[in-house]
Amino acid sequence: MYKSIIRPYLFRRDAESAHHLTFKWMQRLFAVPGAGFIAQLMYRKRHASLAKTVFGIRFENPVGLAAGFDKNAILTQHWKHFGFGFIEIGTVTPYPQEGNPLPRLFRLPLDRAIINRMGFNNAGLDAVVRRLQAAKNRGLVVGGNIGKNKSTPNSHALEDYRRCFEALHPHVDYFVVNVSSPNTPGLRELQEKGPLTELLGSLQQLNRALATPRPILLKIAPDLTDTQLDDILEIVQMTGIAGLVATNTTISREGLKTPDAAVEALGAGGLSGAPLRARSLEVLRYIRAKAGNTLPIISVGGIMDAADAKARIAAGADLVQVYTGFVYAGPSLPSQICKALMQP
Ligand code: FNR
Repeated sequence: MYKSIIRPYLFRRDAESAHHLTFKWMQRLFAVPGAGFIAQLMYRKRHASLAKTVFGIRFENPVGLAAGFDKNAILTQHWKHFGFGFIEIGTVTPYPQEGNPLPRLFRLPLDRAIINRMGFNNAGLDAVVRRLQAAKNRGLVVGGNIGKNKSTPNSHALEDYRRCFEALHPHVDYFVVNVSSPNTPGLRELQEKGPLTELLGSLQQLNRALATPRPILLKIAPDLTDTQLDDILEIVQMTGIAGLVATNTTISREGLKTPDAAVEALGAGGLSGAPLRARSLEVLRYIRAKAGNTLPIISVGGIMDAADAKARIAAGADLVQVYTGFVYAGPSLPSQICKALMQP
């Protein structure tokens, strides 16, 4: 029904208003008594072979909703109905911000891809904390993806990340430090050795002083060179952070079926979905080979179906996340992946 009725209806609208409409539908649907229960009967797979403990946290299954989909933690307690084992809210910044001017979100159906230059539009830390406080019975692991406001210069970025970390700490199970979005000018410079060591070292210090430290992961871009990846692995080891999320969207436009002129007309932004699959897998393989078996890795980027997810787990991913695949395949994607990963 998703592919034959709902998706065509949504895809006739511009991508961002379709996203908001979907959220409205889901809020209305799950306000109906019993709707969540029925959805869980359809989608939620519970099986011992799916459960795993990664960076000290128990996951019912290894399939997550990637950051950026529910930036403001609006549907936190409802994502379990679709069978996700975890979600990542955010990217959250200290202050609310509008993001870039519209339009800023585009589908490339020929490529099963999306280009976005949202620019960390979000309701801000206070609003997200309030929503998380209210979100009882979540039934899944919740990660907090944190960033900096556009108006904060990189020289003060650390303060933004620390504020987000401290305010979200009681309300999320793990953290992701996002320095890899292409849509906040200069943000990815924080992936360089000096600033990244300072940022992660400082957050870890803050974390270790707490009674209940949380795993802190770093989300990386797919556009890094091998040397940059080596530097990052060195910093991961030095600072003792819990793992990596690989990868964010790419600034590359290589190998697209959509005509060049149409792609160019869309302008700048991060590309996600099927065209990102090969590079995300390559980055996963590289870091797994270099880091050995102990470093937890969440693989994300171009996972469009169950076979893609299986390939990531086989290549050494501990957990996987989907975003664009969820848009194209619909609500049954997490359960399809879980079914494929289940062992008798
Ligand atoms: C994203 N992504 C993202 N990532 C992040 O860390 N913080 C964010 O706020 C966002 N926002 C966002 C918005 C939109 C519209 C898209 C399409 C993506 C990146 C996302 O989490 C993921 O890393 C990439 O999209 C690659 O995965 P897929 O989409 O190929 O499964």
